[in-house]
Amino acid sequence: MLRGYLNFVQGVSVNWCGRLGVILTTSSFVCVVFFELARLLGIITSSFVGLVSYMLFPALFILGLLLIPIGWWKLKKQTGKSSRELIETKFKREYVTPSFGGARLFRTTSILIIVSIVFLSIVSTRMLAFMDTAEFCGNACHSVMNPEWVTYQQSPHSRVACVECHVGEGAMALLDSKVNGTWQMISVTFDLLERPIPTPVHQLRPARETCEKCHWPDKFYGQRLKTIARYGHDSASTQLFTTLSLKVDIGATHKRSGIHWHIAEENDVRYASVDDEREKIIWVEVRQPDGRYHRYTSTDGAAVGKDASSVRTVDCVDCHNRATHIYELPDRALDERIHKGILDRSLPFLKREALQAVSVSYTSRKTAMKGIANHMNGFYQRYYPDLARSKAMILDSVVTVLQGIYNRNIHPEMNIEWGSYSSHIGHVGDGGCFRCHNSTMVDEDGNAVSSDCTLCHSMLSNSNVDPFQYLQPVDTSSLDYQMHLYLQKEFMKSSGTPVM
Ligand code: HEC
Ligand code: HEC
Ligand code: HEC
Ligand code: HEC
Ligand code: HEC
Repeated sequence: MLRGYLNFVQGVSVNWCGRLGVILTTSSFVCVVFFELARLLGIITSSFVGLVSYMLFPALFILGLLLIPIGWWKLKKQTGKSSRELIETKFKREYVTPSFGGARLFRTTSILIIVSIVFLSIVSTRMLAFMDTAEFCGNACHSVMNPEWVTYQQSPHSRVACVECHVGEGAMALLDSKVNGTWQMISVTFDLLERPIPTPVHQLRPARETCEKCHWPDKFYGQRLKTIARYGHDSASTQLFTTLSLKVDIGATHKRSGIHWHIAEENDVRYASVDDEREKIIWVEVRQPDGRYHRYTSTDGAAVGKDASSVRTVDCVDCHNRATHIYELPDRALDERIHKGILDRSLPFLKREALQAVSVSYTSRKTAMKGIANHMNGFYQRYYPDLARSKAMILDSVVTVLQGIYNRNIHPEMNIEWGSYSSHIGHVGDGGCFRCHNSTMVDEDGNAVSSDCTLCHSMLSNSNVDPFQYLQPVDTSSLDYQMHLYLQKEFMKSSGTPVM
């Protein structure tokens, strides 16, 4: 077999073209086999190997395959001989004499063709699988996808492949994604991409094909306790808690009871928004048990009279638009790190100064890294020189954490600033839930979509040192006694706890 191959190689290495062809095919084949073996044995774990083994080497292999016949054709033109004559001069006689099952040359060539076909089909299926991995999506066009990749890796979905949410199921979805992907490659190559990449993503697959494969709506029930710690701008960065019991329930058929009511099987909530941006809602309507729709129309100036022709049915992404690419707001990013103990608030005015350091609009990543370090070191050296010396290590780690916060959320190369991608969960300003749940969204009778503070969450504490302020016994002499009693009873009732 090996002798046959060597003879074949000798025979086709007729000029530089043929020789280069042989070298390329042989070496790329050997390299792929070697890399695959190393990968299977666990010697190589880097996912970048995929780029080389399934893309670069196969491309070289195909180039080599093309060069061999080109070399042969050039030789024919040069010498003016026929193929038959050339074969007889280039190959040993025993290889071309006909025998049982064809000449040996014929058999060797056939085997090599079959090996090439099998090799290329294995490699191309491996390549398709590789293109579906998060590493490929996140790294192949590194500069543009970096923000998505960074936020993804730190999200609850860091073990879910990009394609699970971005491609969905079925042949059409796959085709769609390949066409889209090709367009993306072109946009990246010729720098046609908008920066930042515009949101919402209109061509995202319906949530039923993606999110609901893993989270099926029936599984939402009960409430979810969420304690949010916030830190003040005073010297001690005082800790205050807001505790919500989020009513994430989906509710029983037509009987309403919670946040996931919008997406229950039997419900249909749809809306139109200004420029189809899903920010300013023009109207929202809810299907009634009799099949008719009950509509609430915005009386807000920014929405009145706008084109309401694109209608969208509420699904997961209308609230969870930042399910994975989660960008933080500076204030909240700091609070979370302090709460986790990653930032040490024993440094005076830590919260206030850190917020100032990260909020500046720096011109580049490099100036940001320097600017953050200079701000923090400068402040403590100037006002607390002793501390700056005795707690130098802590100060260094604070600077590193702040630089990390900046790197996760700000991406100057893609024009991503604080707040470029806002989340629809909650209600910062009049966004999120308050896009529909507000007093200007009214039906024919003038009833508004509810924005009652306990519609979506019970409140167990509101900016208080005690995370369960309203669960404590009611002090009838206190000023907020009425509210305390109301919130306590509301929580007991909504969570099904027997009222004491
Ligand atoms: C859990 C599901 C999920 C996963 C996993 C996921 N994404 Fe997304 N991605 C989304 C959703 C939802 C949006 C749409 C946000 C919108 O429309 O506002 C989005 C938006 C995007 C955008 C547009 C920019 C933006 O932030 O809105 C890009 C680019 C993107 N994703 C790339 C990726 C890459 C690359 C990966 C893998 C590293 C990935 N996504 C993994 C759900 C996901
Ligand atoms: C391939 C499975 C899969 C898909 C598809 C998927 N998720 Fe998830 N999701 C998970 C897993 C696993 C977790 C993490 C659970 C944990 O950390 O306890 C999660 C967590 C979440 C959480 C809770 C996050 C938190 O803070 O606890 C939300 C919200 C969520 N997913 C929404 C979505 C949305 C919206 C989509 C579609 C755009 C989606 N998921 C698609 C598997 C998936
Ligand atoms: C696109 C508009 C829209 C958005 C955005 C929206 N809602 Fe709603 N929501 C509605 C409508 C409409 C109703 C039903 C009003 C009615 O007919 O009583 C409703 C009802 C509810 C209910 C009551 C369900 C019940 O069982 O009675 C809750 C709870 C709720 N929404 C929570 C939320 C939360 C939390 C958010 C943000 C994460 C949110 N909604 C975002 C339109 C919206
Ligand atoms: C009307 C807005 C809205 C819609 C639509 C919506 N969610 Fe949610 N979801 C929320 C809110 C608000 C929370 C609580 C947020 C928190 O915990 O911080 C939540 C919580 C969750 C959680 C965590 C729940 C738990 O029990 O810990 C998951 C998972 C989730 N949603 C997935 C989904 C999926 C999947 C869909 C689509 C089928 C969906 N959501 C549709 C608003 C919504
Ligand atoms: C339509 C549903 C809805 C209504 C109505 C609503 N909230 Fe909320 N609220 C939410 C959701 C969802 C969150 C986000 C929880 C999270 O961070 O995951 C939230 C968060 C909060 C927070 C914590 C914010 C933070 O991160 O510090 C406070 C405080 C709050 N709400 C107060 C109120 C008050 C006061 C009202 C009445 C004016 C109100 N809410 C009405 C859904 C609602």
